Amino acid sequence: MNQVIFGDNLDVLAGLPDACAGLVYIDPPFNTGRRQTRVTLRTVSDPEHGDRTGYQGRRYRTEKLGTTSYADAFDDYQAFLAPRFAEARRILAPDGAFFLHVDCREAHYCKVHLDQVFGRDAFMNEIVWAYDYGARTRRRWPAKHDTILWYAMDPGAYVFDYDAIDRIPYLAPALVGPEKAARGKTPTDVWWQTIVSPNSREKTGYPTQKPLAILERIIRVHSRPGDLVVDFFAGSGTTGEAAARLGRRFTLVDDHPDAIRVMARRLAPYGAAIVGAAGILDDAGPDAGGAIRPT
Ligand SMILES: C[S@@+](CC[C@H](N)C(=O)[O-])C[C@H]1O[C@@H](n2cnc3c(N)ncnc32)[C@H](O)[C@@H]1O
Repeated sequence: MNQVIFGDNLDVLAGLPDACAGLVYIDPPFNTGRRQTRVTLRTVSDPEHGDRTGYQGRRYRTEKLGTTSYADAFDDYQAFLAPRFAEARRILAPDGAFFLHVDCREAHYCKVHLDQVFGRDAFMNEIVWAYDYGARTRRRWPAKHDTILWYAMDPGAYVFDYDAIDRIPYLAPALVGPEKAARGKTPTDVWWQTIVSPNSREKTGYPTQKPLAILERIIRVHSRPGDLVVDFFAGSGTTGEAAARLGRRFTLVDDHPDAIRVMARRLAPYGAAIVGAAGILDDAGPDAGGAIRPT
C-alpha cells in the first residue's frame, strides 16, 4: 500500500523492515541557515476593486492563499544525517539504490560520509542538476545547480535500465545526421531541467519542491515496476507522484504538518494512506487523502 507517514523520519524508519526498498531518494533540508518559505498567491477577477489590468482591460487582484515554511539550520548537519544514512542502507534491498540530493555547501561532506556508510566502491555517480532561474549575483558565479549522489548497495549488481532512459535533443543535430538527430541522445551526468515554475501545473506551493522530471528519470531507470520507493524527507511528495505514475509503490515521511497536507491532496489520486496525522488534516478539504488512517 502507498503510505504518507507523519513523524520524525528516524522514528518512522525504525519501523520499516530490512531490505524492503528498491530505491531510497532523499532531499533533506540543505542547511542553508535560513527558513525555507513559499507564499502561495492566486489571481482573481475583480471588476470593481482590482488593482491590475489584464487582457481586454479586465481588472484583477492578487489574493494571498497562505505561507508554508520549514526551518533549515542545523548545528551539526552530518551528525543529524548519520543515523538516517545508516537506516537508509538497512532498508535497501541487496540490489537497491540510494540517492541523496544536496547543494554545493554540503555535497563534499556528504560524499565522504556516504563513502563510509556504503563503501567507496559503491559510489556510482555525482549527478549535477543544472537549472537557470532566479536572481544572479554579480559578486561570484551564480550557483545554479544541485548535486545528486548515487550509491549502489552492490556495485556489481544493481538496477540500471538503460532502455528506459529518456532521450534529449542533440545540441548540434546537423553534425550527427537525421536518423540520430530524430532519436535524440541519452543524457550524461549533467541534467538540464528547469525548476518547478511558479505557473506550472505541478506546482504545489510547498517550498523547495523538486521537478517531477528529475524524480521520474531516477525512478524509471533505477527501479523496477512494483518496487517500493522510499523518501523520508518527502516535502510536497514529488517522489510519491513520480513513483505512482511509473507503477512503483511508495512510502513517504515528513515531520511538517504542511507537507502532510500538501501530500494528502497531491497523492489522493494514487490511493495513499495518510498515517499518524490525526488532527492535522481537518482543513485539507474533502479530497484530503485516499485512505486516511490516523494513529
Ligand atoms: C527539501 S524538503 C523536500 C522537498 C521534496 N523533495 C519535494 O519535492 O517537495 C525537506 C523536507 O524534509 C522535512 N524534514 C526535515 N527534517 C525532518 C525529519 N527529521 N523527519 C521528517 N521530515 C523532515 C521538512 O519538513 C521538508 O519538508
